[in-house]
Amino acid sequence: MRRKVSVVGAGKVGSTVAHILALKHMADVVIVNRTVGTAQGIALDIKQSLHIEDSDVNVIGTSDYGQMAGSDIVVVTAGAQRKEGMTRDDLLRVNSDIIGGVADEIKKNAPQSIVIVVTNPLDAMAQLTKARTGFGRERVIGMAGALDSARFGAFIGEELGVSVNDIRPMVLGSHGDSMVAALSTTTVHGTPVAKLIEKEKLSKIVARTRDGGAEIIKLEGSSAYYAPASAAVSMVDAILNDRKRVIPCSVYLEGEYGISGVFAGVPVMLGKGGAEKVVELALPEEERKALADSAAKIKQSMAQLKL
Ligand code: LAC
Repeated sequence: MRRKVSVVGAGKVGSTVAHILALKHMADVVIVNRTVGTAQGIALDIKQSLHIEDSDVNVIGTSDYGQMAGSDIVVVTAGAQRKEGMTRDDLLRVNSDIIGGVADEIKKNAPQSIVIVVTNPLDAMAQLTKARTGFGRERVIGMAGALDSARFGAFIGEELGVSVNDIRPMVLGSHGDSMVAALSTTTVHGTPVAKLIEKEKLSKIVARTRDGGAEIIKLEGSSAYYAPASAAVSMVDAILNDRKRVIPCSVYLEGEYGISGVFAGVPVMLGKGGAEKVVELALPEEERKALADSAAKIKQSMAQLKL
């Protein structure tokens, strides 16, 4: 049976997700956007590349949420973007209106789907989506740790002059200023990174990871999209192909790591059931505490939404 992934939002992240999905021949793709022309144009452009790329998936663009029917996965990228000087939390109000509406459409039109939320502020938007759809926690997953870990890995690889493929980076907690680079489980060929990079340099790398999105906004004038899109597609791949990969994602915690009732980034096994299992790492006390503090901050910002 053909597989179907819908991408809500035809901005840079959404269109890049659609493009990568099509290039990798992963599924038929529906791009849904409020303004129909944009989504249709992007879909046509991608479709016309596929003859060359040896892919024959179908790609359509539409403003009709009904076209999401039968989607295995819906990737939510709609919403306002950060501008220079804004934090991800500054987007809370404006994006909660948009994401609440999108969640209602998903519930109505793609009630069996697994939802990957990309819109910021990430953890809050994922939690809002879960509340509005009423989906179980295994079916609403926030994309953050995959991106933050990829950034962390890129900087470590650059510092050490080793292949990024030999690095196992792990960034947990909020996709925001309180994100937690878990040094205890970040390894290079199995060696903890803290044994390979001196403390001060490593702190700079951790800070650069935390500010990774802002650095790009400053340089480029708009929010990042290649790495966020790749990160989202890695999650789609793990779920569609039932790969049982362990990827840090934002999920609703029910006591794991001593945290309950809030979305936060933790390692999650992704397979055909979605977030199949939260993996509990034996974190040292200071990282466990940092993760709990980060979750507490997410809870505070959630309180503003009054779900
Ligand atoms: C970033 C945005 C996607 O971190 O939050 O680049």
